Amino acid sequence: MSTIEPFDTVDLIRAKRDKHPLSTEQINWLVDAFTRGYVGDEQMAAMAMAIFLNGMERREIKDLTLAMIESGERMDFATLSKPTADKHSTGGVGDKITLPLAPLVASFGVAVPQLSGRGLGHTGGTLDKLESIPGWRASLSNEELREQLESIGAVICAAGSGLAPADGKLYSLRDITGTVEAIPLIASSIMSKKIAEGTSALVLDVKFGSGAFLKDIEQSRQLAETMVALGTDAGVTTTALLTNMNVPLGLAIGNANEVRESVEVLAGGGPADVVELTVALAREMLESAGQMEADVEDALKDGRAMDTWRAMISAQGGDPDAPLPVAREQHVVTADRDGVLVEQHALPFGIAAWRLGAGRARKQDPVQHSAGIDLHAKPGDAVKKGQPLFTLSADEPARFERALEALEGAYSIGDEGSQVNDGGPLIVDRITA
Ligand code: URA
Repeated sequence: MSTIEPFDTVDLIRAKRDKHPLSTEQINWLVDAFTRGYVGDEQMAAMAMAIFLNGMERREIKDLTLAMIESGERMDFATLSKPTADKHSTGGVGDKITLPLAPLVASFGVAVPQLSGRGLGHTGGTLDKLESIPGWRASLSNEELREQLESIGAVICAAGSGLAPADGKLYSLRDITGTVEAIPLIASSIMSKKIAEGTSALVLDVKFGSGAFLKDIEQSRQLAETMVALGTDAGVTTTALLTNMNVPLGLAIGNANEVRESVEVLAGGGPADVVELTVALAREMLESAGQMEADVEDALKDGRAMDTWRAMISAQGGDPDAPLPVAREQHVVTADRDGVLVEQHALPFGIAAWRLGAGRARKQDPVQHSAGIDLHAKPGDAVKKGQPLFTLSADEPARFERALEALEGAYSIGDEGSQVNDGGPLIVDRITA
């Protein structure tokens, strides 16, 4: 006997096309019917485009998020002996913050279940970066995850396909239909996974600027406010920092080189912007978990965070002392005149690193862990003619040409005293419920 469906998919698409809100029942049915394959990919793609064009009310976004959570399992860390706090970044160029942040926060006795993804396009993936470490494995069973949270506190691992599977299916469709950049879809996608993951506190790093997914600060603010409201309504203590992604974060863009830079931060050094953002996000996470006075900078300087990093990497089969891969070929770009580096745009550097092999164009492609870019100067630095500005690394020298094409116009040197476009302050705002 066939099941009688309560709604007609085409009616729902027409309603959203004509700017009408969908009811809670309609959204619940749509997500469930899409997950079980009754609503076809082409129908859901049309719905995603209608949502992209016409938006959703707050209530609809909440319903969509809850329906996607309901499509899969929910994890529960309530029986752990410590509080949990997690971070999510909307992604950017050179954004390796999760790597030093998770062990830093865990060194204060807060568990960090950082379920992460792989990179697609010009923004890198945390798992791709960590897989540069010989032996390190991304997949853990739920039991292993829980044990590591209890014993070490920090876990960075692959999000299982059981969390919000409707989102996985919808995200793949959005990716190939030009419907990724819609606030209701981004907010429900991120928050369904984070709420299903079961953390009690969540800090969002919502980026804006040329290297971010949403370029416009006001759109990023709206995304941050929407996600903070979704988390808060679901009982997760949620805050967001609005951060600048006009200039690459730190000096390393790639995989192995980003791990190297993260280890420098854990050793008490590293670029000032990476340290600033790591410390700010750590404070947010620790405050959300009830620790208002944590000596975060000290934990980077005195080796506490590094000890947790080493334990975290070893527990997942990695050798924290093993040499990281180095590319077979290097191409150094030097300054063509004396002056000041006045601009360095994040997006072209992200695209160039991707073209060198650090990222993937299709989900199934491998990444080259040693490929990437090391910057030797940041906006505002004085440079001399012939001085290295950045080094491209790749296993195949044929990749340099296309990477260099992406970098045309991506940076410039001005006379001493010229106006520097450093992208503005790194942390622009803090958004709370
Ligand atoms: N990351 C997600 O998980 N989902 C989106 O829609 C965008 C970024």
